[in-house]
Amino acid sequence: MAGADYRFSALPESPFPRLNALLEGTPPGGEPLMMSLGEPQHPFPDFVTKELMAHAKDFGRYPPIIGTAGFRDAVAGWLMRRFDLPLGVVDPDTQILPVNGTREALFSIALVATPKEKNGKQPAVLMPNPFYQCYAAAALAAGAEPHYISARPENAFLPDFEGLPGDLLARTSVVYFCSPANPQGAVADMDYLKRLIALAREHGFLLVMDECYADIYDREAPPSALQACLDMPPPKSGDPFENVVVFHSLSKRSSLPGLRSGFCAGDKAFMIRYRGFRNIGGPQTPLPVLAASAAAWNDDEHAAENRALYQRKIDIAQRVLGNRFGFYRPAGGFFLWLDVGDGEKAAKEIWAKGGVKVLPGKYLARDGKDGNPGAAYIRVALVHDEAATEEGLTRLADALG
Ligand SMILES: Cc1ncc(COP(=O)(O)O)c(C=O)c1O
Repeated sequence: MAGADYRFSALPESPFPRLNALLEGTPPGGEPLMMSLGEPQHPFPDFVTKELMAHAKDFGRYPPIIGTAGFRDAVAGWLMRRFDLPLGVVDPDTQILPVNGTREALFSIALVATPKEKNGKQPAVLMPNPFYQCYAAAALAAGAEPHYISARPENAFLPDFEGLPGDLLARTSVVYFCSPANPQGAVADMDYLKRLIALAREHGFLLVMDECYADIYDREAPPSALQACLDMPPPKSGDPFENVVVFHSLSKRSSLPGLRSGFCAGDKAFMIRYRGFRNIGGPQTPLPVLAASAAAWNDDEHAAENRALYQRKIDIAQRVLGNRFGFYRPAGGFFLWLDVGDGEKAAKEIWAKGGVKVLPGKYLARDGKDGNPGAAYIRVALVHDEAATEEGLTRLADALG
């Protein structure tokens, strides 16, 4: 209704319509190639289709919000193998929940974790800048004030949460943090994670760790905040994961963005509360999807092949781009974050001269006191096969000269 002050009116448009508006009226200078969207184009494993088909009759049933024991056990097994956690440390019955793609749950978790007031003030939700855009919508929906904390090359793209004013931390309800980071590919080490968890416990906020790129890495497997928790003195409650919830997804690990399947795990008391909310207002994951997802979490071979393909494409990028445009090998994830001086101008040029769509970094970030930390960059998604990736990067480099 005209004149009304809607909760989300401060949100900018999603980066992709913004990019379309930027390029409108500019014909592509070659066969169009989309390197803007982080949608994996790799094949997904055949067994996923077989499992879906085998359980198709269960589309006729409502799935429980907690999923199936088979799904939760598969997730618990993967967490143990991938992060070297002792068996049984994550209780599948209370500390793991399936999610309908992590995006919906990254959104709704802030609603459940944010009180109406914290220490007598409006709560704050903190996130890196640039960031996955859902976090900002979640902060506004929760009635919190979003704060965007710069992640720049000077701090290895890891925001300095510890350096924030005490009064801001005192009213913080949620910190979103992504490692490996989209868009920069930065990975937080155990020391950084432990300091962030300690900060969460000191100030009583929930650390929401977006780890959806954890299985896509270049040289070393990125650690999880769950591992960091176990390397710290246990809190008084006895729950080693207090104040921490991690999110993982099959969208990237198994190239299944359309399956809409992930999970979250962590702080026991919170997970029980979150389950209660989801039971009323959350989307369940269909039973055939849970069966296919369990098979995917139980299998590491396809994930290793998937990772190797991304590594080969980073090799291609290194060969084609060399030390131009601030190229560096991202430690995790599948994006290049290239310093081109003016990301919007470069994105337009790459489209006009080479027909390649890339995302201006500015659209993933907010203006702050120190400017927009994404403005100088473009984000390039290495989601196609090797030949298309080489072709796209060659056209990009030629366009920028
Ligand atoms: C950083 C980050 N978090 C979360 C998501 C959501 O993934 P999904 O909802 O497919 O699990 C994405 C997807 O692009 C992402 O880049």
